[in-house]
Amino acid sequence: MIIVPGPSSRELGYKIAQLLNEKIISVEQKTFPDGESYIRFTEEVKGEEVIIVQTTGPPQDTNLIQLLFMLRTLKELGAQKVTAIVPYFAYARQDERYRPGEIVSAKIIIDLLEKAGADEFITFDIHNLKLLEHFKIKAINLTAMPLIGEFFSKFKLREPFVLAPDQENPKRAEIVAKILGCDYSWLDKFRDRVTGEIKSEIHEDFDVMDKDVVIVDDIISTGKTIVNAIKILKDKGAKDMYVGCTHPVLAQGALERITRAGAKVIAATDSINSSISKISLAPLVASYIRKAI
Ligand code: R5P
Repeated sequence: MIIVPGPSSRELGYKIAQLLNEKIISVEQKTFPDGESYIRFTEEVKGEEVIIVQTTGPPQDTNLIQLLFMLRTLKELGAQKVTAIVPYFAYARQDERYRPGEIVSAKIIIDLLEKAGADEFITFDIHNLKLLEHFKIKAINLTAMPLIGEFFSKFKLREPFVLAPDQENPKRAEIVAKILGCDYSWLDKFRDRVTGEIKSEIHEDFDVMDKDVVIVDDIISTGKTIVNAIKILKDKGAKDMYVGCTHPVLAQGALERITRAGAKVIAATDSINSSISKISLAPLVASYIRKAI
C-alpha cells in the first residue's frame, strides 16, 4: 500500500502513513503564473494500491481540481486501486435543488470523483449522510465526534451539557455527550434560501443554568450558526461555552465572531488546516484502514 499526501493534506497524509508504517509517495506541486495547478508523482505507482489524502477545503475549486487530476493520473499510471480520502467534502451543502434552476453541486462532485477513477471514497462527517447513496463506488463516512468528545473530556468541565446547533444530526451531540457522561439536546435552525440568513430556536427545553456547554457541529463556516447557539445558551444561564467542529472552513471572520460571542475554547480537527485544528484525524483513519482495507 502507498499513501499519497495531496498538496492540501500533506501533514495529515504523512501522519496517516507514519501510523500505518506504509510507504509515502510525495507529489510535486507548482502553481503556474496564471493560477493553474501542475502536479507530478515522484515515483512509480504501477500495480500498487494507492490511498490519496486530499481535502477540499478552501480554496475548494483548486483542491478539487488537484484531486481529480491526481485520481485520473494514478489510474493512467497503472495504480491497481485508488482510495480517495477526502477529509472535508466540499460543495456537500448544496445537496438538493432547493430553488428551481439551482445546481446540485454535491452530486456533480460525486460523479466527477467516480469518473476520474476513484475506486473507494472515505470522508468525515459528511454534511448529509444521504449523499453516500449517490456513490456507485464504496463510500464511507467516518465521524470525528469520538475524537472531539475525548478532546473535551480533558477539560475540567463543570456539569457539562452538549448541544448540536441544528437539527441535522443530533447523533453527533449524542456521541460527545456519551463520552462526557452528560445530557444533550439540539436547536432547530431555519435558513432563508435567498439571503442565507439563519434563525435558531430551542427544539425541546433543556436546563443549562450554570453548566459548561460543549457545542458540536460538522462545519464552522461563517460561525453564525454557533453564535446563534451561544446567544441562546447565554440567555438560559449557561456558564462557559466550548465549541468543537470537524471542519474548520472558517469563512469571513468566523473565529472572531465566535470568540466575541463568548466561546471559551474553539477546537476542530485537521480535516482542514487551521489555527484551531487541535485534533488529528490520523488515528481514526489509520485504525479504519487497518481494519477495512
Ligand atoms: C449546516 O447546516 C452545517 O451543519 C453547519 O451548521 C453550517 O454549515 C455552519 O455554517 P455557518 O458557520 O456559516 O453558520
